[in-house]
Amino acid sequence: MNIKIAPSMLSADFANLERDLKTIEKNGADYLHVDIMDGHFVPNITMGPDQVAQLRKTIAIPFDVHLMITEPLKYIDRFAAAGADIITVHVESEGEIQACIDAIVNKGVKAGLVLSPDTPLEILVPYLDQISMILIMCVYPGFGGQSYIPESTEKIRACRQLIGHREIDLQVDGGINFKTLKEVIDAGANVIVSGSCLFKGDMKDNMRQFRKIIHG
Ligand code: DX5
Ligand code: ZN
Repeated sequence: MNIKIAPSMLSADFANLERDLKTIEKNGADYLHVDIMDGHFVPNITMGPDQVAQLRKTIAIPFDVHLMITEPLKYIDRFAAAGADIITVHVESEGEIQACIDAIVNKGVKAGLVLSPDTPLEILVPYLDQISMILIMCVYPGFGGQSYIPESTEKIRACRQLIGHREIDLQVDGGINFKTLKEVIDAGANVIVSGSCLFKGDMKDNMRQFRKIIHG
């Protein structure tokens, strides 16, 4: 399977974002993972669509926008206009899941659904033929640098089974590092988000190390 790496911007130096995004791109990242938090759905705040639009001009790799906001439907059009290539919405947020998928797809953007650690996979069943990505959170959303929740591995494995032959990417986010990477890949994940691990020290070395683990 083709494994993609999506460094999370949350761990970048926000005083030097352009520099850090260019470093991500230069080191062969497949996507930029952009965490959007509203201080309500999660107890942290990041940025809105205007900032994403400005950042979009700095690099060419696809923007994978993870919405951790209470009312995603209200903002989908604006994140699409800002240049998001993929938009993922939490199934726990307020706002009809079907309406969110429709709004994303209508803008020509790839739609994905996100599950927080306590949310069962079954909720995805009605939408499987309409989405391009499933994101399994391996920590409680809100902050970078948390530890991987071990129960996530079984959930990833079950999710890969649920996907079956459908062309849906299985993304994992939270606590992915040199120790947990192999476990999530073996369980069936194929899009790897990582923030604190990739940004600690030298991104080039860290990406190389990730690729080494991925290719066995
Ligand atoms: C957390 C965010 C993650 C975060 C991951 O809610 O969704 O994308 O940046 O950070 P690490 O890789 O440090 O766990
Ligand atoms: Zn994220």
